[in-house]
Amino acid sequence: MRLNVTVNGEAMSADDVWEGESLLYVLRERLGLPGAKNACEQGECGSCTVYLDGTPVCACLVAAGQAQGRVVRTVEGLAPGGELHPIQQAFLQAGAVQCGFCTPGLIVAVHDLLERHPDPADADIREALAGNLCRCTGYEHILAAVKLAAGR
Ligand code: FES
Ligand code: FES
Repeated sequence: MRLNVTVNGEAMSADDVWEGESLLYVLRERLGLPGAKNACEQGECGSCTVYLDGTPVCACLVAAGQAQGRVVRTVEGLAPGGELHPIQQAFLQAGAVQCGFCTPGLIVAVHDLLERHPDPADADIREALAGNLCRCTGYEHILAAVKLAAGR
């Protein structure tokens, strides 16, 4: 199939797409957007989180055919021109990035959280990020980064 999708405000298309392949594969391997990471490919870790029509989803669980004609926003779309988003700056400043594999998914999830709750309580943050696993940081620095970003 030919897949037509709007990604980060730009109309994009890819040919010879199998409709059962994942949106994550399409983004990374066909459209040259490696921001969303493939860590589990089973919907367990959140490292592949992107917006689909404004809702955060695990891109590894969305079939390419389901994305036809829809609007995707990836972590690259939060930092147009390569300038870091304030949430990304906060993650760096708070030391919330170690290997960085979970970070793009967390950035999208935190972006969504702060859109809904500009001043989230700890419980809000923990609930919002429950689907994003980090094997390195122990989460305390991530919590601090979210508070730092919210404060700005
Ligand atoms: S790679 Fe999609 S949830 Fe882990
Ligand atoms: S920084 Fe390594 S998994 Fe989160």
